Amino acid sequence: MKNFAFYNPVKILFGKGQIANIAAEIPADAKILITYGGGSIKANGVYDQVKSALAGRNVFEFGGIEPNPHLETLLKAVELIRKEGIDFLLAVGGGSVVDGTKFIAAAVFFEGDPWDILAKNAPVTAALPFGAVLTLPATGSEMNDGSVVTKWETKDKLFFASSQVFPRFSVLDPETTYSLPPRQIGNGIVDAYTHVMEQYLTYPANAPLQDRMAESILKTLIEEGPKTLANPQDYDARANLVWSATMALNGLIGAGVPQDWTTHMIGHELTALHGLDHAQTLAVVLPSTLTIRRDRKWQKLLQYAERVWGIVDGDQEQRVNDAIAKTRNFFESVGVRTRLSDYGVGLDSIPAIIKNLEKHGMTALGEYEDVNPQVVEQILALCA
Ligand code: NZQ
Ligand code: ZN
Repeated sequence: MKNFAFYNPVKILFGKGQIANIAAEIPADAKILITYGGGSIKANGVYDQVKSALAGRNVFEFGGIEPNPHLETLLKAVELIRKEGIDFLLAVGGGSVVDGTKFIAAAVFFEGDPWDILAKNAPVTAALPFGAVLTLPATGSEMNDGSVVTKWETKDKLFFASSQVFPRFSVLDPETTYSLPPRQIGNGIVDAYTHVMEQYLTYPANAPLQDRMAESILKTLIEEGPKTLANPQDYDARANLVWSATMALNGLIGAGVPQDWTTHMIGHELTALHGLDHAQTLAVVLPSTLTIRRDRKWQKLLQYAERVWGIVDGDQEQRVNDAIAKTRNFFESVGVRTRLSDYGVGLDSIPAIIKNLEKHGMTALGEYEDVNPQVVEQILALCA
């Protein structure tokens, strides 16, 4: 196992009715800014629950944060915060709202152009405290220190991480997710699944505990994910999906093991250039990454085949092929298509994707840092 530091200070309030308890988590004299997206929280009653939990408090609002949150929008919230002297943020929505709020929290105290936090890896030394009410199980943002923001003007979708932007608390009430359309449920399943795969499907590192935790999350997603699609009001299935998605990217399974974020990095460029949902990009790229990188990942692919999919028959080649095919079929079965052509994207877009990866310094990806632009080209060619 590799050396690691593990730190995660996020308090989780899990279960039905937990929104009612948020007031106790926020200082009584705080000037609070509720941040949210395009309005789903108003349609499903989550906004009303938050407002009644914060009755009598000093509350401001900032709505309109887009999926794949835009820098340009988030900077307007920063202006409002400075003008009103707001000192606590409450993100209410999906990963985009939580990510956007992390950026806002950091940008408020940043001297200079806050985009440098992402474009130049400028360190974040302070941030406003914030909490989250999560309404879409997918990203893990509710319990991690990462954030992905898009500069719309230039179509740059970039990532930053800082221990300053862990939420103080996150509410995970599975009932708030009942209103999700099937597309977003499927997206959440695929995103969480891929987060596990990028921390697990590399090479053996003598970390059997992390391996088994990763495999148990994958198996839980395979079992519970389809139940949530078949019966959107199945509380227990939804609760298990929500907790699986959080556990998939809160740092625990990735501690002490090699990681491969190739699929995500290619995926971010696909979203920025072609507007695919985050999880759609992952469903397209992951099967191809596993196929092109099969030699490097051979041992773990065999382990994955056996322990996650129960594939024990056939020679090694056959088992590896079957495991990759099962992965693709699972994504398709939860409604997320796995080919570029399903989204109207042709292979002629490959040079632009590679150019953007180069611009963003993503030229040595993967657990061996040997996924260079030529390898990315092979991966994308297989995504057609
Ligand atoms: O904007 P509203 O009206 O709220 O609607 C949203 C949005 O249209 C809707 N929605 C959310 N909760 C709902 C709901 N609709 C009905 N009922 C509910 N309960 O769903 C749509 C998508 O929301 P979004 O927040 O964009 O989705 P998601 O949670 O999948 O977040 C995706 C973003 O997270 C980033 C992605 O790149 C992308 O920008 N990621 C963040 C990560 C992190 N911070 O660690 C890691 C991930 O790999 C990912 O990159
Ligand atoms: Zn993701």
